[in-house]
Amino acid sequence: MKVTKILETMDYGTAPESSAAALKWIEERGADFGLFINGDFVKPAGHESFATHNPANNELLAKLCQAQTADVDAAVSAARGAQAGWESMGGSARSKYLYAIARLVQKHSRLFAVLETLDNGKPIRESRDIDVPLVARHFYFHAGAAVLMADEMPDHQALGVAAQVIPWNFPLLMLAWKIAPALAMGNTVVLKPAEYTSLTALLFAEICQEAGLPNGVVNILTGNGSVGEQVVIHPDVDKVAFTGSTAVGRHIRQAIAGQGKAITLELGGKSPYIVFDDADIDSAVEGLVDAIWLNQGQVCCAGSRLFVQEGVAEVFHRKLRSRMDKLRIGDPMDKSIDIGAIVDPVQLQSIKRLVDEGLEEGGHCHVAAGDCPSEGSFYPPTFISEVDPACRLMQEEIFGPVLVGSTFRTPAEAVALANNTRYGLAASIWTENINLALDLAPKIVCGVAWINTTNQFDAAAGFGGCRESGFGREGGWEGLYAYVRPSYQSTGEIEVITPPQGSSEPVEGSIDRTPKLFIAGRQVRPDSGYSTPVYSSTGKQLGFVGQGNRKDIRNAVEAAHAARSWAKSTAHLRAQILYYIAENLSVRREEFAQRITAMTGAAIESAKAEVDLSIDRLFIYAAWADKYDGAAHGVPIRGVALAMHEPVGIIGMLCSDQAPLLGMVSVLAPAIAMGNTCVVVPSQAYPLAATDLYQVLETSDLPAGVVNIVTAVHSDVVETMAGHMEVDSLWYFGADGHSASIERASVTNLKRTWVNNGRSRNWEDAKQGAGKEFLRQATEVKNIWIPYGE
Ligand code: NAI
Repeated sequence: MKVTKILETMDYGTAPESSAAALKWIEERGADFGLFINGDFVKPAGHESFATHNPANNELLAKLCQAQTADVDAAVSAARGAQAGWESMGGSARSKYLYAIARLVQKHSRLFAVLETLDNGKPIRESRDIDVPLVARHFYFHAGAAVLMADEMPDHQALGVAAQVIPWNFPLLMLAWKIAPALAMGNTVVLKPAEYTSLTALLFAEICQEAGLPNGVVNILTGNGSVGEQVVIHPDVDKVAFTGSTAVGRHIRQAIAGQGKAITLELGGKSPYIVFDDADIDSAVEGLVDAIWLNQGQVCCAGSRLFVQEGVAEVFHRKLRSRMDKLRIGDPMDKSIDIGAIVDPVQLQSIKRLVDEGLEEGGHCHVAAGDCPSEGSFYPPTFISEVDPACRLMQEEIFGPVLVGSTFRTPAEAVALANNTRYGLAASIWTENINLALDLAPKIVCGVAWINTTNQFDAAAGFGGCRESGFGREGGWEGLYAYVRPSYQSTGEIEVITPPQGSSEPVEGSIDRTPKLFIAGRQVRPDSGYSTPVYSSTGKQLGFVGQGNRKDIRNAVEAAHAARSWAKSTAHLRAQILYYIAENLSVRREEFAQRITAMTGAAIESAKAEVDLSIDRLFIYAAWADKYDGAAHGVPIRGVALAMHEPVGIIGMLCSDQAPLLGMVSVLAPAIAMGNTCVVVPSQAYPLAATDLYQVLETSDLPAGVVNIVTAVHSDVVETMAGHMEVDSLWYFGADGHSASIERASVTNLKRTWVNNGRSRNWEDAKQGAGKEFLRQATEVKNIWIPYGE
C-alpha cells in the first residue's frame, strides 16, 4: 500500500499475536483438565467433562471436569483444613505468598493474556493491557493489606472458608478480585470459575503451586451452575462472594438464607453515561467507545444508557456514529482489533433476541459499518437512539455491544433519567463544569461515579453497587472488611425473653397512658385499632402500646421516604440534634430508669446505668456525625478517587429485648448520624422505653419522619419490612429467629441485611454495642473518580 493511500484512509494492517505458547500449554496438559483440590490437580475417574471453545472460531480448546458433590466436599474440607494455619501464620507471612503470586502473574503475563483471549474472545489488547496488569496490581495491593491488617484492622479476624463464584466476562480479573482480599485477610477459598472461561483459573492454580502456597488455601472447581450452587450452600462455608447475573445473585441470597454466612453480591447494571452540552465532545465520544464497547459490552458497569443534553445531541450522535463505523471487528488475537467475539453462541443469541424484541417498541438503530467475521460469535457495535425511558432496551441489561440513548434538558432531568432503573452500579458524567459534576455524582444512585472518564478500576478503590446491582464492595478497605469478622463478636445464643404477664390491676399511683405510634413526627393510632397491655415484672399493668401492623409499617416507610432530605443536611446539624436528644434524655434520666426497672425488674442502679450508657451512645454518634470521613485514594491515574460515605437510605430496625432502651438507641443513633431515615420496631418484650423516647425526639428538633417508631410483635411486621421495596437495609436484633426469613424476603429489592443469626450481643460492651461496625452498616461507600488536567 502506498503512503498516500495510508494517509488517506488512516487505516492500519493486521498485527496478529501468536497463540502458539498458549495452545502448547493446553496440549501439554492433554487438553483435558482436572480440578485443583488441596494443592493438586485431580481428575477423578468416571467424571463427566465438558468442552471449552474459542468463541472467535468455534474451535475446541480443551475438556474440563464437571465437579461432583464429593469434589465439592473435598475442596471445602481442604480449605477448612488449611484455614487455621494460613490465618495464624500472620499477615506478613501471607503477604510474601501474595507478592510471589503477583510477580508470577507478571512473569507469565503474556501466557495469561493469550489464554484469556482464546477462551473468552476479548481483544488481546484488552487482556494484555487491562486485565492482566490489573490482576497483578490486585495481588500487590492485597499483599500490602495483609501486612497492615494487624495494625489497621485490630479486633478483626478471618471469616474462614470463602465460596467464590465468578462470571466469564473478566475471568482472571474477577478471580483476582475474589482471591486476593480473601487470602490477605487469612481466609481460604473454593472458587468456581464460569463454565465458558475456566482456563486462566487453572493456569492460576499452577501459579499457586509455583509460589509454594500451602495446600488447600486455594481450591478451584470447574463445572456448571449446579457446582456453584453446591459450593455456596455447603454448610462448612463461612462466606459467599458472587459476581454474575442478578437472577442468580437473588437465587443464591435465598438459597443460603439463615445459614449465617457473610455474603457479597456484585450483579448486573445498566449504567448511565451523561454528556452535558459543555463537555469535551471528542473525549466524551472516545470515552463512550470504552464505556460500551470494552469487552464487547459484556461489562457489568458498561455505560449502556447514553443521555446527551439536547443542545449537543445531534453533533454528539453524528460523531459517535462516525467513530463506531471505524471500529474494527474481528480476530481477537489481532492486536489492532477493537471488537472481539461474544463469549459464547448462547450469549450471542441472548443479545440478538433482546435487541430484536426491544426494537419492536421503537428506537432508531445504527449498526457499525465494519464487517463482522462470518465464523465465530460476533455482534456489531450498535447504537439505538430515541429510546423511551420505560422501554425494555432502556431497562434490561443486554450485556453486549449495544448502546441505547435519549436526550435531556436540565441536570435534574439527567438525574431522574439516570436513576430510572432498578440497578445502581456505576455512572459516567461528562462536563467541563466540575461543580456540576460533583453536584450530580452524589445524586445518582450508584457505587462508582466517573467524572470525565469511564471504566477506571483499581485495587485501592472499592467497586460495587446498590439496589439490584447487589451489595458489598471489592477493592479498597471496604472490600477487606467483607472478608473479616469482629473478633469481639459474641458466639453465645441470644436469650429469649418472655414479656411479663399479669392482671389488669394498674401500678399503684400510675395514670393510664396509652402511647401511640410515632410516624412522620406525629403520634398516630395503630391501623389495627388494637392495643396490647404491658405489664411490670411484678405483673401489674404499666400501660398499653399500639399493636402496629403492615399498614403502619408502610406508612412509616412513606414518612421515612419523605424525610430523605435528612441525608443532605449537614453533618454539623445532625451532630447538634443528636447532642440535643442526649441532653433531653439526660434531663429525664430518673423517669426512664424507673420505667426500665418497672418493665424488666432490673435494679434501679442498673437501669440508671442503661440510661447513662444510652446518653453516652448519643454523644458518641453526635461526635462521629462529622468525623466518619471518607478517603482520597491514591489511584494510579493523574487524579483522585474520592471514597464518600453516603447514607444507605431507609433503614428498618427490629430491636433487641436485651437492654430495651440502650439496644434501640445504639442502632438508631449511628443510623441518623450518617443521614439515614429509620423505621424502628422496638423491643417487643419491653416496648415502653421506646414510646417514651419519642417524646424526647419530639422536643429535640429532629425533623418529622427521620425516626418513625412502630410498636409491634416482630413476627407481624418482619416480612413486610424485609420485602418492602423502599427499605434499603434491615437490621434485626430480636430473639425470635427471624434472621433467615429476613434474608430470604430481602431479595425483592436486594436490600442489605444485618441480622444476628440468633447470636447475642452485649449492648453494654463498648465494642459489641458501639463503634465503626455500626457506622459501616449505616453507610455505603461511593467512589468518585476525578482525573486532573486538561
Ligand atoms: P450467571 O449469573 O448464570 O453465571 C455466573 C456464574 O454463576 C457462573 O460461574 C455460573 O456457573 C454460576 N452459577 C449459575 N447458576 C448458579 C447457581 N444457581 N448457584 C451458584 N452459581 C451459579 O451468568 P450467565 O448465565 O453466564 O450470564 C447470563 C447473564 O448474566 C448475562 O447475559 C448478563 O446479563 C449477566 N451477567 C452479568 C455479569 C456481571 O458481572 N454483572 C457477569 C456475567 C453475566
